[in-house]
Amino acid sequence: MTMTDPTTASHAAAAAPRVAFPSGFAWGAATAAYQIEGAVAEDGRTPSIWDTFSRTPGKVANGDTGEIAVDHYHRFREDVRLMADLGLTSYRFSLSWPRIQPTGRGPAVERGLDFYRALVDTLLEHGISPVATLYHWDLPEDLEQAGGWPIRETAHRFAEYASIAARALGDRVPLWTTLNEPWCSAFLGYGSGVHAPGRTNPADALRAAHHLNLGHGLAVGALRELLPASAQIGVSLNLHLVRPLTDRPEDLEAARRIEAVGNRIWTGPMFGGGYPADLIADTASIVDWDELVRPGDEAEIGRPIDLLGLNYYNPTVVSAPQKTPVENPEDTGGPARFDGHGDSAHSPWPGAEDVVFHLANDDVTAMGWPIDATGLSESLIGMHRDFGLPLMVTENGAAFEDVVGPDGRVDDPERIRYLRLHLSAVADAIAAGADVRGYYLWSLMDNFEWAYGYDKRFGIVHVDYQTQQRTPKSSAHWYTGVIRRGGLD
Ligand code: NOJ
Repeated sequence: MTMTDPTTASHAAAAAPRVAFPSGFAWGAATAAYQIEGAVAEDGRTPSIWDTFSRTPGKVANGDTGEIAVDHYHRFREDVRLMADLGLTSYRFSLSWPRIQPTGRGPAVERGLDFYRALVDTLLEHGISPVATLYHWDLPEDLEQAGGWPIRETAHRFAEYASIAARALGDRVPLWTTLNEPWCSAFLGYGSGVHAPGRTNPADALRAAHHLNLGHGLAVGALRELLPASAQIGVSLNLHLVRPLTDRPEDLEAARRIEAVGNRIWTGPMFGGGYPADLIADTASIVDWDELVRPGDEAEIGRPIDLLGLNYYNPTVVSAPQKTPVENPEDTGGPARFDGHGDSAHSPWPGAEDVVFHLANDDVTAMGWPIDATGLSESLIGMHRDFGLPLMVTENGAAFEDVVGPDGRVDDPERIRYLRLHLSAVADAIAAGADVRGYYLWSLMDNFEWAYGYDKRFGIVHVDYQTQQRTPKSSAHWYTGVIRRGGLD
């Protein structure tokens, strides 16, 4: 890629930014294996639950799959050069479990590990610091056949896979995260069924949540044992910034329930407090927690981590069930789908099934998600207050209807606006005392957006899915300027 954008040159020459970030702040972008790699049957890789799910008619828009995706498996060197041209100082990617340990048991496949060794070495040669996520939703299909996340054994399988990855890559990856958005794995995968494996059983969703937590704790233990002492370990959570629609008691209660099953189900046990009593009460009729959680589990899950990653896209506005748009004239969206995942007959919110989600519809992304950066600063400040450890924004970004202009350029001013607002919110949180160490924009390039297939483009680099040509959008050039200046003007 050549940086011909005229704005880049002026950025490079610019003086100190008006909003500066701490020195050493990681300027990153993020991706995930199934969303970009393709090559699903190469070098020993076997299907994950997303291969199976996306091949099932009706599950993914247009019948799209990750079979080819953006062919990163074959183009990673070109992609890393692109990252270097953009000026990224760090890159967050995920390891594909079925590429490394195809059946989820037994020995590793060296060719699979070689891919990640080569990727990481190429990143390091370009001065880009790698951040590896162990699990971004691609459970080996064989493990799903054996019961998937609702069974306890899967947590132990995950810890074994973490050990394999740590032995192979621990000498060159300085920062590891265990799970990406376990809420989605548990509640979209086993509750609403809009994500793989597409099961719709609230008890299984809660069991999956516990075993994801346990898998996280066991993996932290394995990583600690095998990684160099300097390595850092964290997790990426999509903690919902929940806002009650009004301060009426029933809306506050709706917010409490969503916070319990959306957020505290993870942060409770991960930060040593165990499962919250109110969550257990809300879901007691669905699952037997005494049977599910064995003695010692909560201590295992609560193993100390070094940093907490936040994936933030929009706030979550909720009310008690009876609210209608008529009763709430300011809420132009009315009761609405949440996250594009609430229109299923099955709820992804065990114990809070009747809560109503409200999405404003005046200033939204192509996903219909409201643009509200205040939720990002609020989240970071709240996490700093509640957990007191270093933080990272491990995902933030937006999909828009990008078009390639006649001159071949992709101009995406809406994305620049979104990113500017959100980076500014990160700066606000830092100014308020939150120890935020980095920002990973979602995403480096357009890719397979799960149940939406290739319809939704989140990249700062446009991908032509016919030719696989990568074209940095104007937001990519803008981000380069931000990184060069170390902040916002
Ligand atoms: C969260 C997920 O981690 C990522 O895989 C997804 O593409 C983005 N959000 C956008 O929906």
